[in-house]
Amino acid sequence: MTPIRAVKGMNDVLPDEVARWQAFEAAFRRSMHLASFSEVRTPLVEPTRLFVRAIGDTTDVVEKEMYSFTKHDEELTLRPEGTAGAVRAYVEHGVNNQEPVSRWYYLGAMFRAERPQRGRYRQFYQAGAEIIGDPGPACDAEMIDLLVSLLNDLKIPGISVHINTIGGSGTRQRYRDAVVQALAPKKAALSEDSQRRLETNPLRILDSKDPRDVEACTSVPPITDVLAPEDTAHFDTLKKHLDALGTPYHVDPKLVRGLDYYTRTLFEIKGAKEKLGAGDTLVGGGRYDGMLKDLGGPEAPAIGFAAGIERLLIASEHLGETKRTRAPVFIAPLGEAATRAGLVLARTLRAAGIATEMDGRGASLKAQLRRANAQNAAFALVLGDGELESKTVQVKSLAAHEQQNVPEGDVVAFLKARLGAANEAAGGAA
Ligand code: HAM
Repeated sequence: MTPIRAVKGMNDVLPDEVARWQAFEAAFRRSMHLASFSEVRTPLVEPTRLFVRAIGDTTDVVEKEMYSFTKHDEELTLRPEGTAGAVRAYVEHGVNNQEPVSRWYYLGAMFRAERPQRGRYRQFYQAGAEIIGDPGPACDAEMIDLLVSLLNDLKIPGISVHINTIGGSGTRQRYRDAVVQALAPKKAALSEDSQRRLETNPLRILDSKDPRDVEACTSVPPITDVLAPEDTAHFDTLKKHLDALGTPYHVDPKLVRGLDYYTRTLFEIKGAKEKLGAGDTLVGGGRYDGMLKDLGGPEAPAIGFAAGIERLLIASEHLGETKRTRAPVFIAPLGEAATRAGLVLARTLRAAGIATEMDGRGASLKAQLRRANAQNAAFALVLGDGELESKTVQVKSLAAHEQQNVPEGDVVAFLKARLGAANEAAGGAA
């Protein structure tokens, strides 16, 4: 039979690479905990109508990219992003009755049937956060600044922060009209997709990379022309906060983003184009002050972001060095009786907190030691008939090329002392 392959655009992450993922996850959790965010875990599958309602039925995500199916007469969808599910959970559990402001973060798989390319996949992972109950703009600035610090810690070169405001829902409607007015006379010059968007979702045309659309959009007035005074004030204060923090940013009046739920603050953080190509947007986020009400919840302002983990891993110069950890102790038994004693010894060592690999293949001593060396073990514990008889274990230090027989009952203490010393020298935890 021809081997079965993974679904296109969905990647395996093999153990050597997982070490880099775990290093990123640890850095992300640390930065979130330091800023008082708590983790939330919501289902990978949600009712389809949640995404249609929250993200908008004329967005690319809802129109073209959702993995939707029917099961037991329910219309379900693999989540294409994390915000809608987090808000659904917040409303469902009445979290607003428990605390005025919630700061949540999440890590997990998202699904979008996009055209796969470097940095763009059909199953991809996001690290995201949401602050619900705070109208900003101080927390908008705090969130952007937190992200910049995280990306700097990960040594991601060439990052740039782009911000914009699209005002409240009234402004959005006014701007929509202004965009239609500017582009309708040029309809024939637009791409086919944007000709359609002119009716369904005109703001998305501003986001198009098609050169015909980019050219036509030069005549679209900037959003600042139609902003309400409160929206302008919110945005001006955000900029002042960012200036005070010394966090550099570019105001990009054409930034609209692909999800319909945004109000007021929008932001994206991009990485170096040479490394990331078309997928150079590392983080996207913004305010969505209307979503909770829209989903049947209380009126509560909110802001959030999500970062694409694969893209961060491509861009990070810090995580590149991370190696997977291997067990420092390798048990090499010779013969069946020794194998049984080895199983018991492995259990004893693990119970004492010593990571141990046991070779149960019945291979020669030479083959087992070759494997112990390849695994980078510090010690090989050889068990043969002689050791069984004398109730000892032969402990070989693989680095020092030394060996000694240690009484069975002393092996844990012996290894702990040696491994502790090695660990301290390496600056790690026992
Ligand atoms: P988004 O811009 O759709 O926003 O996605 C955020 C990030 O996820 C992108 O900047 C990118 O790094 C990554 N990403 C998106 N699609 C893919 C893909 N197909 N392959 C690889 N990476 C991808 C959201 O998802 C919002 N929920 C963010 C947010 C949270 N806004 C408010 N709260």
